[in-house]
Amino acid sequence: MKQQAATVADHTAIAAAATILEEGGLVAFPTETVYGLGADAENPAAVARIYQAKGRPNDHPVIVHVAPGAALDYWVADIPDEARQLVAAFWPGPLTLILKRASHIPDAVSGGQDTVGIRCPSHPVAIALLSAFKGGKGGVAAPSANKFGNVSPTTAQHVRDEFGLDEHDDGATDGEACSGALLSTVLEGGPSQVGIESTIVDLSRLATHGPVLLRPGHISAQQIADVIGAMPAAPDQAAPRASGTLESHYAPRTPVTMLPQAELTAALAQLQARGVKVALIGHALPLQSPSQRQLPADPAGYAYGLYAALRDMDQTGSDLILVETPPQDAAWLGVNDRLRRSVFGSAGVIASLLKN
Ligand code: TXA
Ligand code: MG
Repeated sequence: MKQQAATVADHTAIAAAATILEEGGLVAFPTETVYGLGADAENPAAVARIYQAKGRPNDHPVIVHVAPGAALDYWVADIPDEARQLVAAFWPGPLTLILKRASHIPDAVSGGQDTVGIRCPSHPVAIALLSAFKGGKGGVAAPSANKFGNVSPTTAQHVRDEFGLDEHDDGATDGEACSGALLSTVLEGGPSQVGIESTIVDLSRLATHGPVLLRPGHISAQQIADVIGAMPAAPDQAAPRASGTLESHYAPRTPVTMLPQAELTAALAQLQARGVKVALIGHALPLQSPSQRQLPADPAGYAYGLYAALRDMDQTGSDLILVETPPQDAAWLGVNDRLRRSVFGSAGVIASLLKN
């Protein structure tokens, strides 16, 4: 993996990026959770370019990012008190609210649903970009800046790797030219401090469903309950579609399997005896070879390093990425949710590798 010094984008780069957005182009930008692939939320042709660049189905809604102090009622038709309380408590920050959408929100943003996802990120480069774009009055529609289904990017280099931008800069004119042409600007902001995507709470059906936790993240259900006085429920089948809730997501190319520490050492020995090349991600085991990554044993530190670890281990040419199962308590919900989806589709992989 190429390493590049993280020089944070300056005023000139941010002003140029805001102009690209205003002209209907795409800009990748850092947020505290993961890097986003942004377009003017009020320009359906620009939003369509996001779907094209990501290779994402265009009925999946995208989150609208707004500057601090933005007028919520411009974007949202009906603002319950709970939304105002959560905005006051957690914005700018890693919390997305799903609310009834205002009538001018394009279908391209809402995936044709009657709701809109909205958040105000806390990363200083994101805030500077949102404040420069349309004088702070615009909204930037932005999913994570990765190809559909891949691991989300937590550095600008991850974004360039996803969209083949270095190859493009080097003068290559092959298959990457298409996405390279759609996205040419990645604002630098260093590694994303949270490392997993924002918590998503649906407040659009409060009267019938109460608050619903669509995606766990750094801000916990308990923290939300402490502010609004009601614990968000897990989504039921009537909940709106959220692509981050698809079973297979955040997946590297190499199969990923989780094992508790007690089983891991024996499985590793068995696999290695068969000549299987295994990359390891752990939090309690002492790991140090280049195909092993030791993450901190606390949920915030683990989340911060998780996606980079998955990407790096994917580059080791291993047959399998083995992850030491993290603790299962509430504080680890966001991490375990992302790992469960990385693992999806890899069931039985150890047995089949041992068979060969
Ligand atoms: O942390 C984040 O939220 C990052 C950064 C860039 O802000 N963004 C992000 O976007 O994770 P994306 O598109 O990868 O995931 C957004 C999730 C998707 O699962 C999408 O379906 C859901 O939010 N979503 C957006 N609008 C929605 C809506 N109106 N109703 C239900 N789900 C919605
Ligand atoms: Mg995503």
